[in-house]
Amino acid sequence: MSTMLIKNGRVVTAVDDYHADIFVEGETIKIIGKDLDIQADEVIDAAGRLVIPGGIDPHTHMDMPFGGTVSADDFETGTRAAAHGGTTTIIDFAIQSKGRSTFEALDTWHAKAQGKASIDYGFHMIITDLEEERVQEMSRLADDGVTSYKLFMAYPGVLYVDDATIYRAMRKAGEDGTVICMHAENGIVIDEIVKQAQKEGKTEPKWHALTRPTRMEAEGVHRAISIAEVADVPVYIVHLSSADALEQVVLARDRGVHAFAETCPQYLFLDSSYYEKPDFEGAKYVMTPALREKWNQEHLWRGLKFGDLHAISTDHCPFCFKDQKELGRHDFSKIPNGAPGVENRMSLVYNGGVVHNRISLNKFVELTSTNAAKTFGLFPRKGTIAVGSDADIVIFNPDRKETISVNNHVMHHMNVDYNTYEGIEVQGVAETVISRGKVVVRDTVYEGHKGYGKFLKRGLYRGF
Ligand code: URP
Ligand code: ZN
Ligand code: ZN
Repeated sequence: MSTMLIKNGRVVTAVDDYHADIFVEGETIKIIGKDLDIQADEVIDAAGRLVIPGGIDPHTHMDMPFGGTVSADDFETGTRAAAHGGTTTIIDFAIQSKGRSTFEALDTWHAKAQGKASIDYGFHMIITDLEEERVQEMSRLADDGVTSYKLFMAYPGVLYVDDATIYRAMRKAGEDGTVICMHAENGIVIDEIVKQAQKEGKTEPKWHALTRPTRMEAEGVHRAISIAEVADVPVYIVHLSSADALEQVVLARDRGVHAFAETCPQYLFLDSSYYEKPDFEGAKYVMTPALREKWNQEHLWRGLKFGDLHAISTDHCPFCFKDQKELGRHDFSKIPNGAPGVENRMSLVYNGGVVHNRISLNKFVELTSTNAAKTFGLFPRKGTIAVGSDADIVIFNPDRKETISVNNHVMHHMNVDYNTYEGIEVQGVAETVISRGKVVVRDTVYEGHKGYGKFLKRGLYRGF
């Protein structure tokens, strides 16, 4: 079995912060201690670096058919980019075709990822319909390690499910000990607003945001949490974007409901003014929920700091500006929804959070790794640095500065022709990335290989 010794680093987890050496045997962490005097096949000097758990991004869309096209990163390019950014696990989404078995969807997504992913991955199941006779499939999915589902209150006619389906799925998830993830926006009302805008001849990208009021996100969050409360199941609101929506999470948590929510870097660092960019460039930021007015950002940071927001995912769903966003040049509603980000999450959050004194270093780890592992049945195998855990470890340089750009070969490996965070300078870069005891990125250079990443059979929700 191969061995590795990581020496002289500052080990930071969601709760710890100390200087130590880490001895890895095979795929797992074997010993953590001071000045370890052990022979190893490979020694990595982490002096002056943070040694943190590999990032977990619980919300990505690789190779996803959506908006009349397919997301530009597949599992090969997307997981390679994720690794560059210090993420060693993603949880992506398999999509049930309406009227078909969820197992068929799982097979399809296994085929997309297997032999391609260079880091470990799991799947949430997107449920698009759930007739009574299909409800039992949820227990069998859980047995197969798919222990969370995503339901959509948005995108009528595409991924949308009605409240009856939501309640049915939630009841079953509650019985099984699995988790419901919710895209919480009132898509029915939003579609009416979109139709009105179209009738009035409004075509530019900014109308994507102007037709999706934050109140309709707050309504979705409120409804999702209320149904979950009655169904007695934990609910995890995905890509929460606004202060209005956050308020609903806070109210529910104060009542003792198991309501959790993630936000994403785009809602922390970008705002609705980006839609005003000339030459159709606003289309680069067309994602759902839409970017909000800037004042929302400080509310989200406060939610992260005090625990009402639970994790930071990317909702990575890239579409090329040139060929794909173009589909909506004359109609904002036809711009494929989504933006790239899987590679830049750790640096953005470290810089915006820790360097700018909004969150502690431990909180940074909790939000980018530990809480996702706990929520989605991966802890303590993933999400921490501990004896017996997978050796998913990032050697992170807290002082290195880089400017994020599609042209910066340290910061952009995603298969897309623009970077959502173009021009933002960050301090804090993942330099060496280890996945289950194997170096996949060394000093920012890729050393992994496709197919190394394994499907993760996840466990049940165990509470916080
Ligand atoms: O715009 C987005 N978010 N695209 C991906 C699909 C989703 O709603 O997560
Ligand atoms: Zn969504
Ligand atoms: Zn998404």
